[in-house]
Amino acid sequence: MPAAQSTLVLLAHPHLDSSRINAALAGAARDCPTALVHDLYAACPDGHIDVEREQRLLEEHNTIVLQFPFYWYSVPPLLKQWMDEVLLEGYAYGHGGDALHGKTLQVVTTTGGPAASYRPAGYNRFSAVDLLLPLDATAHLIGMDYPDPLIFHGVRTWSDGDVRAAAARYRAFLDAPVREAAA
Ligand SMILES: Cc1cc2nc3c(=O)[nH]c(=O)nc-3n(C[C@H](O)[C@H](O)[C@H](O)COP(=O)(O)O)c2cc1C
Repeated sequence: MPAAQSTLVLLAHPHLDSSRINAALAGAARDCPTALVHDLYAACPDGHIDVEREQRLLEEHNTIVLQFPFYWYSVPPLLKQWMDEVLLEGYAYGHGGDALHGKTLQVVTTTGGPAASYRPAGYNRFSAVDLLLPLDATAHLIGMDYPDPLIFHGVRTWSDGDVRAAAARYRAFLDAPVREAAA
């Protein structure tokens, strides 16, 4: 386990070139010496996932960050495909499937909808935390810790200053597990 980069940021954005928020967040993550940013769409240009490479990356890191824009209350399609093809029986769950036990799965997502829309009376009806429960259940099944997701709401109306503040917050967030591990 390389101490230098203990965190793997699995970045899943189908249009990173036109992204404002996730591109800025990814930039902050790339500045973090303890994090390796793995751009899933760039790494799988034809939709082909190198399962062995992905599993090796998972094994080499303690904290796996899933960073993505919230798409239809879920993850972008390549991240779902990644889950289907990488988190295999006998590897991540089932008999002998303990490769990821004890690691941490940290969700970081951005939503177009404002925080108020993710309430019972809001137009999205449910909280984003509740809508992310399939990832919580996945983490549980594969033996990973699932801390509270980091959710950036209402990003479409953010000012440039808001984007910079979120990037700084994300950078501090990524640094935090290292501080805890060192304590
Ligand atoms: C196909 C698609 C589906 C989306 N679904 C949701 C959604 O379910 N809830 C939501 O709040 N925003 C939704 N959005 C808005 C994105 O989450 C938002 O544009 C994104 O987080 C902005 O980040 P970016 O600048 O990195 O692209 C959707 C956007 C697209 C393109």
